[in-house]
Amino acid sequence: MQNLKLAVTKGRLLEDSIRLFEKMGLDCDELKSPGRRLIHGISNYPLEIVMAKGPDVITYVEHGVCAMGIVGKDTIMEQQSSFYEVLDLGFGACRFALAVKKGYDFYGSYKTRRVATKYPNVTKGYFLSKGMDVSIIKIEGSVEIAPLLGLSDGIVDIVQTGNTLKANGLEVIDDICPVSARLVINTAAMKLYKTQIIDFIDKCKKTLDQK
Ligand code: PRP
Repeated sequence: MQNLKLAVTKGRLLEDSIRLFEKMGLDCDELKSPGRRLIHGISNYPLEIVMAKGPDVITYVEHGVCAMGIVGKDTIMEQQSSFYEVLDLGFGACRFALAVKKGYDFYGSYKTRRVATKYPNVTKGYFLSKGMDVSIIKIEGSVEIAPLLGLSDGIVDIVQTGNTLKANGLEVIDDICPVSARLVINTAAMKLYKTQIIDFIDKCKKTLDQK
């Protein structure tokens, strides 16, 4: 049987992904001490784990070089790519929100609002749905800085504990939608390696149902 590749998002989702694999009975010894290696074997299951950044997980799955991926719904919504999203894995739960400097009246003026974000597509879609024209400023990380420096009137970002907002004197004024980690599958791989992929999805489901 061919080893399929599963791309897993590095950072926040990695620990929970490994926890899930272990509960599924997969040997994660190599994954738990990865060093600088980015592709890891699983000794007791025909799968290789590729560690990548969220947007790259989507690229690898969309191009079919990885049959499966674990990635946040936030990244999926932003990238708008084509693949099957088969399971909500439950972990990495947070939400998209609009936040401003504490007490700031975001809606209190007719002038075009400036919104800083790492997620321009999500932000555009959100304000379009409200029929509101905003100017979107793309930031690569720590977007909370933008309103503090006067670059923007607000930010659209993911909020998990709310600690980063609080520590920077910001507050949520609108919840946009909840997000969490998803299992995604390349559409051609789903047909070509159906038995193997369904076996993996079933194992995931059973393990998630045990919680
Ligand atoms: C995310 C997000 C917020 C923070 C929210 O950033 O962009 O900054 O986490 O989490 P909290 O509500 O628990 O404080 P991340 O840590 O992923 O890093 P980045 O800003 O460099 O992308």
